[in-house]
Amino acid sequence: MPADAYSPTQKALHWLLFALVLGLYALTYAEALFVRGDPNRAVVWWLHISFGLLPAVLVVWRLLLRLGRGAPPLPTSMTSVERSLAKVGHFALYALLIAIPGLGILLTWLRGDALRFFGLFTIPAPFQANRDTARTIQELHSLCANGILILAGSHALAALWHHFIRKDDVLERMLPQSQQRGAVNG
Ligand code: HEM
Ligand code: HEM
Repeated sequence: MPADAYSPTQKALHWLLFALVLGLYALTYAEALFVRGDPNRAVVWWLHISFGLLPAVLVVWRLLLRLGRGAPPLPTSMTSVERSLAKVGHFALYALLIAIPGLGILLTWLRGDALRFFGLFTIPAPFQANRDTARTIQELHSLCANGILILAGSHALAALWHHFIRKDDVLERMLPQSQQRGAVNG
């Protein structure tokens, strides 16, 4: 569904999810800072899971907004191949934004752990632990995490190409200060 502009909430969610994906990925490297058996290693994963639950919720909100109010149409200067590529890329980014937290939640439960959100609440595993399946899910979670980094990197390069080479408004319309005709809250 076409809209005149991304709403302030759509933009805020885009950049917040970007920061969370990058931060959560970077956080996984913090484990290597501590020796085996150091309790801080468990803290790293507690933080990863607690912060990880945020994108799980935010992506649902973002999808509902996307389905409800749509996105602004792509510039007419883009060829049909470029438009299709952009749409497939955005679809794949959404799919990974859903798959990564989904697999992360499944992985936590398959290991027999409960989901803990900063000590505020705990959701116990609704099924029995299964180490073998957990290993497969961990590989998939890791594969998708690497995939989103590569895809988001290409997506960011495309946005910069639009801005500096094509000189259209594609990057600007996702920036906080941009105010296009018809931008509304929500
Ligand atoms: C967009 C968000 C996320 C990103 C980018 C991300 C990324 C990663 C990466 C790169 C790893 C390391 C994988 C490996 O070395 O095999 C990992 C491990 C893990 N992630 Fe995530 N993750 C995200 C969200 C979540 C969520 C929502 C949960 C659970 C609620 C979760 C639970 C886990 C667990 C349990 C591990 C394995 C920890 C261990 O090896 O002990 N992740 N994640
Ligand atoms: C983890 C990182 C990122 C993810 C998951 C992501 C995801 C997405 C998705 C799914 C859309 C489609 C929006 C919609 O139609 O509802 C989008 C749009 C956009 N993103 Fe990202 N993005 C990321 C990082 C970035 C970065 C780093 C930049 C810029 C350097 C950027 C610039 C844009 C722009 C300009 C649009 C609007 C494109 C258009 O209107 O057609 N994104 N992003």
